[in-house]
Amino acid sequence: EAGALWGGRFAGGPSPELQRLSCSTHFDWAFAGYDLAGSRAHARALHTAGYLDEHEYQGMIAALTELGERVADGTFVPTPSDEDVHSALERGLMEIAGPELGGKLRAGRSRNDQIATFMRMCLRDAIVSIRGLVAELVNAIGEQAEAHMDVIMPGRTHLQSAQPVTLAHQLLAHAWPLVRDLSRLSDLEQRLDESPYGAGALAGSTLGLDAMQVAGDLGFSTSSPNSIDGTASRDLAAEFAFVTAQIGIDLSRFAEEIIIWNTKEFGFVTLHDSWSTGSSIMPQKKNPDIAELARGKSGRLIGNLTGLLATLKALPLAYNRDLQEDKEPILDSIATLEVLLPAFTGMVCTLTFHGERMTELAPKGFSLATDVAEWLVKHRVPFRDAHEISGTLVRRAEERGVELDELSDEDFAEVSSHLTPEVRSVLTVQGSVATRNGRGGTAPVRVREQLAELRARVGGF
Ligand code: ARG
Repeated sequence: EAGALWGGRFAGGPSPELQRLSCSTHFDWAFAGYDLAGSRAHARALHTAGYLDEHEYQGMIAALTELGERVADGTFVPTPSDEDVHSALERGLMEIAGPELGGKLRAGRSRNDQIATFMRMCLRDAIVSIRGLVAELVNAIGEQAEAHMDVIMPGRTHLQSAQPVTLAHQLLAHAWPLVRDLSRLSDLEQRLDESPYGAGALAGSTLGLDAMQVAGDLGFSTSSPNSIDGTASRDLAAEFAFVTAQIGIDLSRFAEEIIIWNTKEFGFVTLHDSWSTGSSIMPQKKNPDIAELARGKSGRLIGNLTGLLATLKALPLAYNRDLQEDKEPILDSIATLEVLLPAFTGMVCTLTFHGERMTELAPKGFSLATDVAEWLVKHRVPFRDAHEISGTLVRRAEERGVELDELSDEDFAEVSSHLTPEVRSVLTVQGSVATRNGRGGTAPVRVREQLAELRARVGGF
């Protein structure tokens, strides 16, 4: 059977049904570059250990280079009888180097240690790419925050009017989870810095190859301390799937706000024409599709994580073919974020905020009731009483159908003798946000510090 990696003990080739089930080249061909790099490093290890003489080593490297060129320009591609990227490339190597030399490269390695290594190489590259895209989004949020430092909007809990906040503060609340995602990626990057190459099928090899040398050639600072763990574990892939799912969830929460803010009823934002879509039937429509796709794709990212975890559960050591199922979810999560993040960032950069509308709604729904209670506390009223007094004031305003600042001095005095007309000083949204000036608070002076802190953190990644 052309291209098969075994044969000796088999009387016949694989059935077509098995071949179709078994074949993974339609997705693991993405690992061809890593496979070739692994082969170069492995050839050098064989040379160092004396299994390839200088002439053979140079011939092997030349053949691998030639193969790499054919892969890059598309003249070498997998055929349906190639089981996976590894078997396809070995077939290519045999064609170029001939069976005598080409047949020497497989000594001391297995597709099990190869694929475990390439998965880590792929995750390390993906981390660099996704971290860059997330950092760009954080910067875009930071720029919008900077441009809207003094805009006041309704802050909500339970989606109900709660307390006024600055728009910058609210926006930055979406940036911090992404900063933690950046830190999660960098943290994972450290655990990925360990090469399983040299672990062989599961137990290492008898040939005395230098796994640390291979690790160094492939950009790792060390090799796996346990060959069984090196070939059989995929927890780092699952961890990556979690971080990418969390990024999706963080985007979905911001997306949901943008979708709500973009409704006529809220009227807080307008989407840029180039970053929104129309309707095929309703001419007036302008839809927040980027935000909706972010919300939707977060489900897909979660699915990739849970699917992978389900595959890993209770798998016995060491390698099992089930592990081949790790690649599609991981590659999908990478591809999903690589298209989603640039679009999301573009949408955020080009959002127009309607500050007047936000500020107009900020005091509605009695959002200054807490300010009244805290004003009373400053006048030595115990908080339980202050809460009660402020609540009574709200009830009165609600009965009259007015806002708190529309009640008369007499109304205040009737509710409590502590409520002198000076209480009006805290019945403005500007006063409310300006006085929430402890660390982490919504006062513009604090939010400026917060933005500087955010930028310093993101610059560190
Ligand atoms: N294609 C396999 C994977 O992605 C690697 C090959 C190992 N196959 C095997 N029968 N040991 O996991």
